[in-house]
Amino acid sequence: AKVSLTGIKPTGEPHLGNLVGAIRPALTLTEEYDSVYFIADYHALTSVRDPQELRQYTRSVAATWLAAGLDPKRTTFYVQSDVPEIFELNWALSCMTAKGLMNRAHAYKAARDKNVEAGEDPDAGVNMGLYNYPILMAVDILIMESDVVPVGRDQLQHVEYAADIAGSFNHVYGKNYRFKVPEAIVPDESHGQALPGLDGRKMSKSYDNTIPLFLPEKKLLKLVRRIPTDSTPVDEPKNPDTSAPFQILEQFASADHAGVVADTRKRLEAGGMGWGELKNVLFEVLNAELAPLRERYEALMEPGSELDTVLAEGAQKARDRAGRVLSQVREAIGLTGVA
Ligand code: TYM
Repeated sequence: AKVSLTGIKPTGEPHLGNLVGAIRPALTLTEEYDSVYFIADYHALTSVRDPQELRQYTRSVAATWLAAGLDPKRTTFYVQSDVPEIFELNWALSCMTAKGLMNRAHAYKAARDKNVEAGEDPDAGVNMGLYNYPILMAVDILIMESDVVPVGRDQLQHVEYAADIAGSFNHVYGKNYRFKVPEAIVPDESHGQALPGLDGRKMSKSYDNTIPLFLPEKKLLKLVRRIPTDSTPVDEPKNPDTSAPFQILEQFASADHAGVVADTRKRLEAGGMGWGELKNVLFEVLNAELAPLRERYEALMEPGSELDTVLAEGAQKARDRAGRVLSQVREAIGLTGVA
């Protein structure tokens, strides 16, 4: 079967954007694809400095995948740093990747632009992990022989880089070993841009504007009330497609709530539904869909839950897969082969 792979960074509590942009699309692919899903803790190290926090977020992202329905028997599910083969390939591919490619990476450029705007040294606060980030991500993808990578739009460039890096490798060593060239799968246009967050910008841990998936109900309601809206009066027609709460509702609601979404759209467009009422609808739908996940999540987060065994077994499966590719690559590029 073809391979589907994706990862989530444990840099904070998993949020609505992760579920909509990555977890759900990835889980629908498990029917058809050999699925490989992981927690990208090496990538989180570019920003997380508290070991306790890193461990906590790693568990939390793992528990979220399982609560959302990932079946560890039918997938390869692991923590990135449990697979040292990834790091070995990372060095080899770093040596074959042009520095200029990294200079053009969005995340690095954004960090530099921000510094320049603030009149600081362009590389202030930029560590080598952030700079090399796309190479490690290419390794994640290539070492598992991925065909497709389901991600949100913000990760598209990274998947293209992985394809580029595979292409360059194949150009040089293709007679000995060829990497599969991966393709991104992003949520379709009707699902618009990224899911908006509490300030209307893309929901992102780095903007500190997220709605975490597993809040107590009261806190969830409080955050929903904070989503920004314009000042159109209650009775006037509104444009649902420029409204952050409506976008969240539309992207989040599963087929079970398609009726509510269509009805809400009509009422907003006709006038007669205020933003306050829209937020109540959003809260109800979020809560109805998240409640069963929340229960499973909480059980998995208990010390001594099955989480640890699941991850240990996953690491073994992942190492077997990665090891097979790595030994072919070592041979292909001329590393001695004693190891
Ligand atoms: P991360 O942890 O930032 O996000 C995980 C996934 O969630 C998606 N996402 C969103 N989708 C829609 N709307 C949003 N507001 C939103 N916020 C986040 C992201 O697009 C992503 O798919 N570099 C990756 C992790 C990674 C990876 C990989 C992914 C490491 N190695 C290999 C795929 C393949 C990251 O930081 O994702």
